[in-house]
Amino acid sequence: MSNHKKTSKISGFYKLSIKERIEFIKNFSDLSEEEVSILSSSLDINTADRMIENVLGTFELPIGLALNFLINGKDYIIPMVTEESSVVAAASNAAKIARVKGGFIADCSDPLMIGQIQILKLNDIASSVKELLNHKKEILKIANAQDKILNDLGGGAKDFELRILDSPIGKMIVMHLIVDVRDAMGANAVNTMVEALAPIVEDLTGGKVRLKILSNLADKRIVKVKAIFDKEKMGGENNVDAFLESYTLASIDPYRATTHNKGIMNGIDSLIIATGNDFRAIEAGAHAYASIDGRYTSLTKYHKNKNGDLVGEIEIPMAIGIVGGAGNIHPKAKLCKKILGIKSAQELSEVTASLGLAQNFAAVFALSTVGIQKGHMSLHAKNIAVMAGAKENQIDKIADQMIKEGNIKLDRAKEIINEIK
Ligand code: MEV
Repeated sequence: MSNHKKTSKISGFYKLSIKERIEFIKNFSDLSEEEVSILSSSLDINTADRMIENVLGTFELPIGLALNFLINGKDYIIPMVTEESSVVAAASNAAKIARVKGGFIADCSDPLMIGQIQILKLNDIASSVKELLNHKKEILKIANAQDKILNDLGGGAKDFELRILDSPIGKMIVMHLIVDVRDAMGANAVNTMVEALAPIVEDLTGGKVRLKILSNLADKRIVKVKAIFDKEKMGGENNVDAFLESYTLASIDPYRATTHNKGIMNGIDSLIIATGNDFRAIEAGAHAYASIDGRYTSLTKYHKNKNGDLVGEIEIPMAIGIVGGAGNIHPKAKLCKKILGIKSAQELSEVTASLGLAQNFAAVFALSTVGIQKGHMSLHAKNIAVMAGAKENQIDKIADQMIKEGNIKLDRAKEIINEIK
């Protein structure tokens, strides 16, 4: 059975042993024994050596599973790679609340990326613009000759736009080549195309082409997600109102919006990393998009509907791929894509943005009610116990004791270890 027919709504998952969790996901995502074994092996050193330069070893982070996600009517269990405690549990909890009213409804644009070509030293901007526009077909043909496979898949350079910018070094034309990159992130395809266009652009304009590079402000590759968070599950309409009061600050104040958006990226980055995508590209695009109207603001919006439920929305650029790049090399990234059961980059975008919305809802909900420290305490206390030198079978006991005393400190953990002795 494929994972669309299985429910991702599971309770008490955290109580299972790691072995039982692996057994569960093996069944949910139809993983083979070989695929399961990837979970406990680290990245092959020779593969690592081919990925970057001057390699010494590899660096591990935990993979956790976010549960309960229903997105466009399909159940997803989402692998998250993060170093931050509480994030996975918070996302799962938010998805559980959203599920009551139908889960996340996501929609994304065509996978259109922008490649920039900067044209300088122009004598006559107007006639350069005219020349470029008159030769649009020829220009697009040269761009598309760079990537036959992308063309065969229905992608490729579709159009270009011209912007005229004034600057301290004079006026320039910036050509935006618009490329449908299909299931790739697209940086390689776009960069190859814009580099190949430099000679013809210089010939046509008589100018000098300087920069030729993809833009990470992928504002033509946008994903939108909406979810209704049930007021009863939120503990009543009072909590919806408290949520909206907290959210208002993010909508008007860049100091709060930055932290609010960081919470969104807690979810988004964890899946970007899990699937071997470029999290810096996503971060750069997200924050630029958050200030696209000239003022940095929240990437999510919230309001109360007639029923008193909370409606949450996110709109964000999502330059991610499921083919090419590290995601095709790293065995765990391949495995995470299999766990997700996604079939296209667009589907991955929709899941990623839903996770971002869920994460943001969870953070703001906690902040507007009990605060976030409570949720952090259990894992934090366990970490302190480990730092104090607790043995595996002592960790839970010491953590529980410190939480009970409201005194989660290294010194206290050491004292308890001695008391146990
Ligand atoms: C912490 O990693 C993220 C939060 O600060 C996000 C927020 O404040 O909305 C909790």
